[in-house]
Amino acid sequence: MSIVVRGGMVLDPGTGRLERLDVLAVGGRISALYPPGADVDVPGCASVVDATGKLVLPGLVDMHVHLREPGYEHKETVESGALAAAAGGFTSVACMPNTRPVNDCVEIAESVKAAGVKAGLARVYPIASVSVGQEGKSLTDFAALKAAGVVGVSDDGVPVTDSSLMRKALLEAARCGLLPVSHAEDPWLSRGGVMHEGKVAESLGLPGIPSASEEIMVFREIMLAKLTGCPVHIAHLSTEGSVDLVRRAKDGGIAVSAETAPHYFTLDHTAVMEYHANAKMNPPLRALQDVTAIKRGLAEGVIDAIATDHAPHAATEKAAGFREAPFGIIGLQTALPLTLALVREGVLPLADAIRKLTAAPAELLGVPGGVLREGGPADIAVIDIDCEYMFDESMVLSMSRNSPFIGMKLKGRNLAAIVGGKLVWQGIGP
Ligand code: DOR
Ligand code: ZN
Repeated sequence: MSIVVRGGMVLDPGTGRLERLDVLAVGGRISALYPPGADVDVPGCASVVDATGKLVLPGLVDMHVHLREPGYEHKETVESGALAAAAGGFTSVACMPNTRPVNDCVEIAESVKAAGVKAGLARVYPIASVSVGQEGKSLTDFAALKAAGVVGVSDDGVPVTDSSLMRKALLEAARCGLLPVSHAEDPWLSRGGVMHEGKVAESLGLPGIPSASEEIMVFREIMLAKLTGCPVHIAHLSTEGSVDLVRRAKDGGIAVSAETAPHYFTLDHTAVMEYHANAKMNPPLRALQDVTAIKRGLAEGVIDAIATDHAPHAATEKAAGFREAPFGIIGLQTALPLTLALVREGVLPLADAIRKLTAAPAELLGVPGGVLREGGPADIAVIDIDCEYMFDESMVLSMSRNSPFIGMKLKGRNLAAIVGGKLVWQGIGP
């Protein structure tokens, strides 16, 4: 099986080099990157993707999604999530364990992985829970989970409140080669809150979640990383204070990494007034100064990666009223255009922005991909960077539609996703 992507501008997010190159993949691996017209033996049977005038990137890597299988298949399945991923340009996703039952054992991890292989779309890497049943009491079997193909451990959705257990988790994760991902939240401080604590919550008469609820736990994770000498990764950073804490920790040589999600650099808490439950997630959309700080954190390299925290919920669940609606929004098909908007705004050079969606998360998770190089996996996205369109509901490939970005004008679109040399998704051009 071979495929050639012809005529595009290939971006290497590692070096920032942008070059007109053709990409030939044979047997799932990139066999040659060469200037068009070079004397390369392209097999006659190779399928051809025309990328003329387009940007060719390593397939995007999303280190934080919720695929809802097993247990919540009315929101999303591994297959529907992997399709939305491929449509959004993601060729790899790492899925969180807050399923029903929780992914806390080898059997479930293997079944999630197998569902990903069966779907044959984006690669699906399970993240298992830190604690059995995400109950925060005892650690799961990290070594066995690693052997089953898990790439990280996280109780995402809820924090690990017991600092002693988290200390053990960091040590064990480092020993087993797993990335520990922290959902940083003090659940007592955020209890009952449904949006960011501030002026908007006050005016709406809604209970708030203070920034300190996140920052207290970000600080704890940093202290535990210092104490153990082991790495920790912080999910969905949303506040100015969190950015400052991670910056200082990194300056001090502590092994902390962080991600944020596109909604945290695109919207602030005023969006709740317009989009209601489709602007409800945890952590919540914050104040404008937090949005500015998140952008600065990305620009300065304090925030390593951009992940979607794709969190599908059924329309009926989101329609339950703002207080009752579940936290979370989908994000796989909007991450790329929202990140490209940061580039146009001058926050980040293109190569840096793409690095945070490719090589950086791949390195953190220790998974292949994120770069385009000879011998590497043929995971490729073909992007139309200038295409402007209305993101309407009919374009959503996730089973859920909970996004504040539906109905918005976006710029930049994935046209094709190639995974292991196979064209798994092809969109319609402008
Ligand atoms: O908004 C969120 N949704 N935050 C979380 O931590 C969990 C997630 C979900 O699973 O829906
Ligand atoms: Zn999450």
